[in-house]
Amino acid sequence: MSFPTHRPRRLRRTEALRGLVRETRLTTAGLIYPLFVCPGEKIRQEVSSMPGVFQQSVDAIVEECREVADVGIPGVILFGLPETKDATGSSSLLAQGIVQKAVAAIRKANLPLLVITDVCLCEYTDHGHCGVIENGEVRNDATVAILAEQALSHARAGADIVAPSDMMDGRVAAIRAKLDENKLEDVAILSYAAKYCSGFYGPFREAAQSSPQFGDRRSYQMDPANVREALKEVALDIAEGADMVMVKPALPYLDVIRQVRDSCNVPVGAYNVSGEYAMVKAAARNGWLDEERVVLEILTGMQRAGADIILTYHAKDVARWLAS
Ligand code: PBG
Repeated sequence: MSFPTHRPRRLRRTEALRGLVRETRLTTAGLIYPLFVCPGEKIRQEVSSMPGVFQQSVDAIVEECREVADVGIPGVILFGLPETKDATGSSSLLAQGIVQKAVAAIRKANLPLLVITDVCLCEYTDHGHCGVIENGEVRNDATVAILAEQALSHARAGADIVAPSDMMDGRVAAIRAKLDENKLEDVAILSYAAKYCSGFYGPFREAAQSSPQFGDRRSYQMDPANVREALKEVALDIAEGADMVMVKPALPYLDVIRQVRDSCNVPVGAYNVSGEYAMVKAAARNGWLDEERVVLEILTGMQRAGADIILTYHAKDVARWLAS
C-alpha cells in the first residue's frame, strides 16, 4: 500500500536534498595522518608500496606537519625508524630518540596539531617482534615494563596522546600508572585495543622496517575470525584506563567497529591501514578505480560503521577534497 504515496527517490532528486538528509557527514576533524620519521637531514624517501607516503627526517616532518595543519587535519601519529636496533628495542627509550626528537621539533614549531606517538617495540628490535624474546617467545610482562618507559619518554618529549600498538596484556594499566607517577596525568592513551594479525600491514612493514625476522605475530595480535574477543580486549583496556580505543585494520573489520562502538562509551578509532591504502593507490594508478570517489566512500563506510576517528594515509587528500 505504501507506493505510490512513499517514493524514497523524492529525497534523492537534487544534491541539496541529498545533503539535507545525509546520515553520515565525513569531516576532516576526525582524521589523523600517520608519519614515518627517519634519521638524517633533508630526507624524503618515498615508500615504494605506498605512493605519496615518505620516510622523512625531522626537518622534513616539521614541514609536512605545517601542511597537515594548514589543511585542517587535527593531528598526526608518529612512527620511528631508529639509528640502531637491539634485542630489547632500547633505542626507543632515548630522550634523543628519533620519535622523541620529532615530537619536540613539532612542539617547537608551535603548530595547532595533536601529536600522537605509536608505542611499540617492533621498529626498534633487531628481531622485529613487538616485544622481548625468551626461548623463542615474546614475553609479556618484561615487554610491558619497556613499553611504559617508552610511553613516558614520548610524553616527556611533548606527546599529547600515546598509542600502544603492541597487543601485550596489561600495557594500558602500566602506561597509565607510569605517566601518572611522573605527573603526566593529562597525557591521553589511545589504545590499539582490537588489533588483528593482518596481511594488510605489509606495506607498513616496508615503511617502518619492522618485519619480524622469524615467525609471525599470531601469539599476540588477534585472530581475524574473532569479534567477541575484540569486545573483551576493549573492555579490559577501558578498565585499565584507555581514553580511546581503536580497531585495526578497518575495511575488513567494519562489523567489529560497529560492535565496539555499541559496546562502550569512549571515542572509537579505526586504522585504515597501509595495505588498504596500497590497494586503492594501485587500482587508481591503473585507471581501474576513481581514487577520490572510492576513498571518500571507504572512509564514509568506516564512519557509518561507528568510527569517531580515522587514521589514514589518505588524510591530506581527503581534507583537500572535502574543502573543494
Ligand atoms: C606496530 C604497528 C603496525 C602498524 C601500526 N603499528 C604494524 C604491525 O603490527 O606489524 C600497521 C599500520 C599500517 O599497516 O598502516 N607498531
